[in-house]
Amino acid sequence: MRTILAAVDQSHHAHDVMSRAAELAVVLRNDLVVLSVVSSDPMKQFNIVEEQNRFATLHRDLIFKHFPENSLSVEPHNGTGGVYKYGAVGVRIQSRILSGNVVDKICECAEEVNADIVLVGSRGLGNIGSLVLGSVSERVVHKCPRSVLVVKGERTEGPDWEGLSQSHKSGVARA
Ligand SMILES: Nc1ncnc2c1ncn2[C@@H]1O[C@H](COP(=O)(O)OP(=O)(O)OP(=O)(O)O)[C@@H](O)[C@H]1O
Ligand SMILES: [Mg+2]
Repeated sequence: MRTILAAVDQSHHAHDVMSRAAELAVVLRNDLVVLSVVSSDPMKQFNIVEEQNRFATLHRDLIFKHFPENSLSVEPHNGTGGVYKYGAVGVRIQSRILSGNVVDKICECAEEVNADIVLVGSRGLGNIGSLVLGSVSERVVHKCPRSVLVVKGERTEGPDWEGLSQSHKSGVARA
């Protein structure tokens, strides 16, 4: 069974990444790992446990939104994140939340799960309009030895995830 790795932050681009990841996982019958990284950058002021819980809720929202609920079951799992089974095609979906350097953790996780392809959004929360790619997606493309698909959503603007932390909203925490 091959594995797709989808990296999501708390921006509206997460929906574009997840939508494409779910489509590929179902058509190719690949397992899917949904990954978010709580940045260890000391400049980013947030509570790690709160951020982990926020990401866990976001992942759950994304998985239930992009896989039909009646074929989705939750599997027993210890720790942060979760494991789901999409019964219609026998695809396993794993939610993973790591802490550390965002780019390094995405690349390490790609190796660990032996990802066939890594999906990232073209942009995230730090919308500096003049840049085509955000710094995380750009660095993952350069650093990760795996194939990387940069998902360009149709929407250039949209509401970010409503569970977004105050530090993200105020622009204190980016990337
Ligand atoms: N903390 C994170 N955890 C997992 N994936 C992330 C994280 N941050 C960014 N990504 C991935 O990288 C994509 C692009 O986000 P990126 O951070 O590069 O852009 P940006 O926020 O617009 O720019 P920047 O952070 O450089 O100001 C996101 O759509 C997501 O796929
Ligand atoms: Mg960012």
